[in-house]
Amino acid sequence: MIPRLAILISGRGSNMQTLAQRVQDGILAGQCEIAVVISSRPDAAGLELAQQMGIATVELDVRGMDKAAYDDSLLSTLAEHHVDVVVLAGYMRILSPRVVSHYRNRILNIHPADTALHQGLGAYDWAFEQKQPSTKITVHLVDEGLDTGTVIAQREVNLTGATSLEEVEQRGLAVEHELYPEALASFLTSLTLNPEN
Ligand code: GRF
Repeated sequence: MIPRLAILISGRGSNMQTLAQRVQDGILAGQCEIAVVISSRPDAAGLELAQQMGIATVELDVRGMDKAAYDDSLLSTLAEHHVDVVVLAGYMRILSPRVVSHYRNRILNIHPADTALHQGLGAYDWAFEQKQPSTKITVHLVDEGLDTGTVIAQREVNLTGATSLEEVEQRGLAVEHELYPEALASFLTSLTLNPEN
């Protein structure tokens, strides 16, 4: 049985697009399939990118929904698509404990800093403003906290000589796009699926 992924996005979708390309003809080929891309925002550019690649998409607009109703819709969307592994890629919401516990140790996130040093939004701004000579992209499991889950992969980004935030982001994203497919591939090789999911 090949693991079925949901990729959760809120915006640009460049990590989602890279993962989908690696499933088509790269390190993730034959390792998993993308069952659905879910966006918390209807205007996320990543939705169109996913549709162009023939991937099913669902818009779960958070506005006007209370937390319990949102959790219900998210969990039922994941169940409808028989999702085994949830991959967060620029998803701008904190998953509720209910969702985390349902997919315990089967939710991954990419964070553009060392999660021990910086959590939450603005990680590239932080690295740039602090004039860090390097930063670390982190792929981690998602638990109930904000970027507190077990780290499964990290890779350094050299920031020496970077003179603008755009340059910091550009160097960081290049590393994100290498690291996320590799970390996901290695995570999937050690995953045991429960046939009842
Ligand atoms: C990335 O920098 C990712 O690390 C962070 O949000 C950004 C999403 O970018 N969690 P994209 O939507 O994948 O282009």
